[in-house]
Amino acid sequence: MALLSAAAARRRQSPPLCRLLVTCKPRRCSGLVLGVFEKEGEEGGLHLTEAAAGFDQTLLGKLSELLKISGPTLKKGKSRIFYGIHKDFPCVAVVGLGKNDAGVCGAENWDTSKENIRQAMSAGCRLLQDLEVTHVEVDGCGDAQSAAEGAALGLFHYDQLKSKKKTKVTTQLHGSADSASWEKGVTYAEGQNLARLLMEAPANHITPTAFANTIEEKLAPHAERVTIKKRSQAWIEEQQMGAFLSVSKGSEELPVFLELHYNGSPDSSQAPLLLVGKGITFDSGGISLKPSPSMDAMRADMGGAATVCASIVTVAALKLPVNIIGLAPLCENMPSGKATKPGDVVTAKNGKTIQVDNTDAEGRLVLADALCYGHTFNPRAIVNVATLTGAMDVALGSAATGVFTNSDWLWEKLHKASVVTGDRVWRMPLFQHYTRQVTDSQLADLNNIGKYSRYVSRHARSGGACTAAAFLREFVTAPHWAHLDIAGVMSNKDEIPYLRKGMSGRPTRTLVEFAAGLAHNG
Ligand code: BES
Ligand code: ZN
Ligand code: ZN
Repeated sequence: MALLSAAAARRRQSPPLCRLLVTCKPRRCSGLVLGVFEKEGEEGGLHLTEAAAGFDQTLLGKLSELLKISGPTLKKGKSRIFYGIHKDFPCVAVVGLGKNDAGVCGAENWDTSKENIRQAMSAGCRLLQDLEVTHVEVDGCGDAQSAAEGAALGLFHYDQLKSKKKTKVTTQLHGSADSASWEKGVTYAEGQNLARLLMEAPANHITPTAFANTIEEKLAPHAERVTIKKRSQAWIEEQQMGAFLSVSKGSEELPVFLELHYNGSPDSSQAPLLLVGKGITFDSGGISLKPSPSMDAMRADMGGAATVCASIVTVAALKLPVNIIGLAPLCENMPSGKATKPGDVVTAKNGKTIQVDNTDAEGRLVLADALCYGHTFNPRAIVNVATLTGAMDVALGSAATGVFTNSDWLWEKLHKASVVTGDRVWRMPLFQHYTRQVTDSQLADLNNIGKYSRYVSRHARSGGACTAAAFLREFVTAPHWAHLDIAGVMSNKDEIPYLRKGMSGRPTRTLVEFAAGLAHNG
C-alpha cells in the first residue's frame, strides 16, 4: 500500500457523486489514532493494543503488515500515518506507547504507562489536526482516561485572537468500552485547558473583573451546588485587607476578591477544603519594575487563581462529594503615582505590619490577606497556589511544583495525586532558618523580602522560594496547610510533550485528583 497524501486518499476513497448524495456522513473527514506497545524481550517486536488488534482484524492483518514494511519499529512517541486503508478512516495514525508494563516509576514519581499514553495519543491527534482532519477516534489503550487527557490536552491551542484558526477537532473513544473513564479524562483535560486559556489570554482581556466573570459563566451550569461572590474594592477595604490593597492601588483596574463555594458533600456541615490562588492579572513589578524582556509572561501571574478556579469548575462538573471554598485575590501590580513605594509599611488583615521593601514581591502580600480571611471558614485543609518566585523556577525548573507544607498528611495526599496525573510535586523546606530572614525587619513585624535578598542583585537571591513560603506561613494557624509555588511550571516550551508551547495550566489535574482523593477516601 502506497502512503498517499491525505487529500489524495480522500479523493481515492470518494464514492461516485450519485452515491455520495445518499451515503455521505456529516463527519466526512474522520481519522483514527491507534497505539502499539514495544514487545518485551523481542528486538523490533510490536504488540498491538486491543483496539489496534481489532482494527487490524477487520483489515485482515493489513495494519500489522504495513507496520512491518513501512520502516523501523515504532519506538515510544514515534508515529506513522496510513492513508486510505479503511473506508471510515481516510487517515490512521499509529503511535508507539513504549513498554506494555511500565507502570509507576519510583524514581520519576509518576506512572510511566499513563504518561506514555498521554504522549502518544496527543502526538497522534496533533498529526491528524495538522492534516485538517476534523473528527478523530482515539484508542483507549487500556486506560481511556489517560488517552482522553492526552488527546484533549494535545489538541488545545490558543488562537482566540487570530484570524486564521487551527482546525477544530472533535474526539471520541474508538469502540465503546470504558466510556466513563474516557469522559472523566476529557473533563480533567478541559479543566486544565480552561486554566491555560485564562493564563495565556492577554492582560488587557483578562482583567480582574473579566477573570471573575469568566469563572462565573463557567460555573453557571452548576448553580445548584455553587455560590459565587465577586467582592468589590469597598468590601476589601471593610475587611481591612491592607496588604492586598497595597498591591492593587497602583493600578487603574479595580481589584476583585473572588469567592467560590462548592457544596458537593451530602453532609453540608462538612469542613471545606480551602483553595487560595494568587490572581495577579499582570505583574509589572510595580515601582520595583521588572526588566522588559519577558515581562509579557507576567500576564500569567494569575496562574494560581486560574488553576484553583479551573479545578473547582472541574470538581463541580464531576459532581465530587466534597465541600470546597476557593478564594482568588485578583488585581494588577502596576507602578503609578499611587503605587506602594519600597520601604512603605502596610497592615494585613490580621494586624501584622509588613515593610514592603520590594513591590515585585506582591504575591505574598495578596495571599497573606486571603489566607487570614480563609481561616474564618475553619477549613479541614488549606492549599494555596501561586506563581510566587522566580527562585522556584531556578530550583526545580518545570519538572515539578514546589510544595511547602506543615502537614505530612497533606503532603502524602498531594504527592499521591500527582503520581496519577503525571503533573508532579516535590517537597520543599519550611525551616525556621528562612522565617528568621523575613521576621527581621527594621520598621515592621515582617519584611516582604528575605534579609539576604535586600541589597543584592536580581541574580543573588539565595533560597528565595523558601523565604517567600516562610513569609506566607506567618499568616497560617491551620495544622494542614500547603503552599504550592508554580512559577517553574507556569509555561511549557517542549518539556511536557502532550502540551504545546505556551502557558501550561499546571497543576490543575493534580488539584482535581487531590480533591477527588479527599472526596472518596477522606
Ligand atoms: N510573579 C513573580 C514570580 C515569577 C517569576 C513567576 C517568573 C513566574 C515566572 C513574583 O511576583 C516576583 O516577581 N517575585 C520576585 C520576588 C523577589 C522580588 C523577592 C522574584 O521572584 O524575582
Ligand atoms: Zn512580582
Ligand atoms: Zn507576581
